[in-house]
Amino acid sequence: MSADQKPLGFIYQFAAGAIAGVSEILVMYPLDVVKTRIQLQAGGATGADAYTGMVDCFQKIVRNEGFSRLYRGIEAPILMEAPKRATKFAANDSWGKFYRDLFGVAKANQSLSILTGATAGATEAFVVVPFELVKIRLQDKASAGKYTSSLDALTKIIKNEGPLALYNGLESTLWRHILWNAGYFGCIFQVRELLPKTDKKGMQTLNEMLAGATGGTVGTILNTPMDVVKSRIQNSPKVAGSIPKYNWAWPSIALVMKEEGFGALYKGFIPKVLRLGPGGGILLVVYTNVMDMFRRMQNPVA
Ligand SMILES: *[C@@H]1O[C@H](CO)[C@@H](O)[C@H](O)[C@H]1NC(C)=O
Ligand SMILES: *[C@@H]1O[C@H](CO)[C@@H](O)[C@H](O)[C@H]1NC(C)=O
Repeated sequence: MSADQKPLGFIYQFAAGAIAGVSEILVMYPLDVVKTRIQLQAGGATGADAYTGMVDCFQKIVRNEGFSRLYRGIEAPILMEAPKRATKFAANDSWGKFYRDLFGVAKANQSLSILTGATAGATEAFVVVPFELVKIRLQDKASAGKYTSSLDALTKIIKNEGPLALYNGLESTLWRHILWNAGYFGCIFQVRELLPKTDKKGMQTLNEMLAGATGGTVGTILNTPMDVVKSRIQNSPKVAGSIPKYNWAWPSIALVMKEEGFGALYKGFIPKVLRLGPGGGILLVVYTNVMDMFRRMQNPVA
């Protein structure tokens, strides 16, 4: 990755981000299935079919139900996550160039990386809000009988609440993505600076894995409270003439903290960080490698 090479265009960044996103899901999805199985197993389950831990669960699923069971239901996450990850990386690179030109500098520094990540996060938020809204509505227990599928939910929300309702929760989603991406790209910059430079391919991969996983973990620590209030804001249908209990992001955080305590803001943190920490590392490793490959394809002699 030498700086003297001609930068690749948006379409390459977008493609590399999409490939990184799909790879991350292919690796992490089976873990998600295993996690769900263990969570669903009633306490004190015994017998040959009971899972004693993650590895045991993994082996039993493969042995008793077949390998493909580990990938059941993966279509929806791929369709939803790949465009998100593609937007994330392409937006980071494009905004990075914009800010370098704006400030007239040749290289990013720590504050510029955080600013670039934050702006990329805001861009990403516009892409994801409608997807997130439909997902939250479908996942809510109370809405079980209300919608039959994603498409049904989408149609009903537009018909009953108007197309703008799809952008319900835009503000909290903006904050959620601004915080995650500022943490992610900001940490990647910092960790890359701190780690010793190396020419060995294996060490480079390890460094990138470490930088990305740190970024993913810090991003998740920063944005989990926003995720909690975003779900609540998006799950409150707009009723004319009344102000919803959860309306704006930061006041909602204060309200949750007052009514339920600080811990409530970190609901669901452990499974999230177990996914997004290592996942952030995989994303970065695949993204950098695919971009390097694109560069070599364009510049075979370089
Ligand atoms: C994000 O963009 C900046 C600025 O263009 C760039 O230096 C950095 O490498 C990008 N981060 C990643 C993880 O691609
Ligand atoms: C990073 O670069 C910008 C633009 O040149 C500058 O304003 C800012 O102070 C720099 N930040 C650090 C931490 O050096």
